[in-house]
Amino acid sequence: MGRIKDDTLECGYHGLTFDCAGRCVWAPGTGRIPSNARVHAYPVHEKYGLVWIWMGNPALAEASEIFDIPNFDNSAWGRNQGAAMELDCNYLLMCDNLLDPTHVAWVHQGSFGQAATRDTPLRISKTDNGVIVHRWMMDVEPAPFYKKVIEFQGNCDRLQHYEVRYPSHALIRAIFTPAGTGGPDAPLHKDAFVMDSYNFMTPTTAGKTRYYWFQLRNIRPDDTALSAMMSEDVRHAFEEDRAVLDAVQIGMAEKESPHIDLPIDGGQLRFRRQLEAMIAEEAMVDEKMQG
Ligand SMILES: [Fe+2]
Repeated sequence: MGRIKDDTLECGYHGLTFDCAGRCVWAPGTGRIPSNARVHAYPVHEKYGLVWIWMGNPALAEASEIFDIPNFDNSAWGRNQGAAMELDCNYLLMCDNLLDPTHVAWVHQGSFGQAATRDTPLRISKTDNGVIVHRWMMDVEPAPFYKKVIEFQGNCDRLQHYEVRYPSHALIRAIFTPAGTGGPDAPLHKDAFVMDSYNFMTPTTAGKTRYYWFQLRNIRPDDTALSAMMSEDVRHAFEEDRAVLDAVQIGMAEKESPHIDLPIDGGQLRFRRQLEAMIAEEAMVDEKMQG
């Protein structure tokens, strides 16, 4: 409830003022600053219009390890973006969602979903910094959201690339290319539509998440009407995710039946296991550095 004044933070109740290192530099009254008045300061770095915070051991903060977005400043790519969303669920439920190409068949029937998304098999791979779940669907009709933006006629080959990197950042890449020109080894066709959807989950409490997102596309970079339409459609689809995930959060908290893992949950389980191990390792390193 305080306010930012120059490079300091002023308490909204009595004006105690803290600098960027968390030191109290002013307190009301006699002018004497209580020795125990300090707040925790974290290393931060601004990039891609976001503030990135490192909440681990400050000695290990490394800005070069921030999620890489190759086409962010590429003038040939268009960008659409909406306000951050507040989700009433744990951040890992959103990570699960973003390793799950199959949910679009039920959650996003009017936009990202299509018949082939129900049961085309998934490929799961672990990388150094996350997990990728992907599949190519060959010679299928474009899903409704993409039908409006792709610049070729007829059926397509479609890639769903769902990638979440530790701790909670996702790249969802969609490729729609004329039928017969797609597949894992095919070079990108000149008419292919590519959309890279970036998703950043910030846990605010155990049961709440702030969700930042934007998309980059390889067509019509300066078309502001297209950007506005895509932002609105994506926001609408993300509201569909929010409704499901908020309900999952309640369902998991008040669970009355056994836990069920489906074959399509392989990517999420791998991601969660590795993240858990990394959190445990970080806690151990922190302890050692303090000791
Ligand atoms: Fe979704």
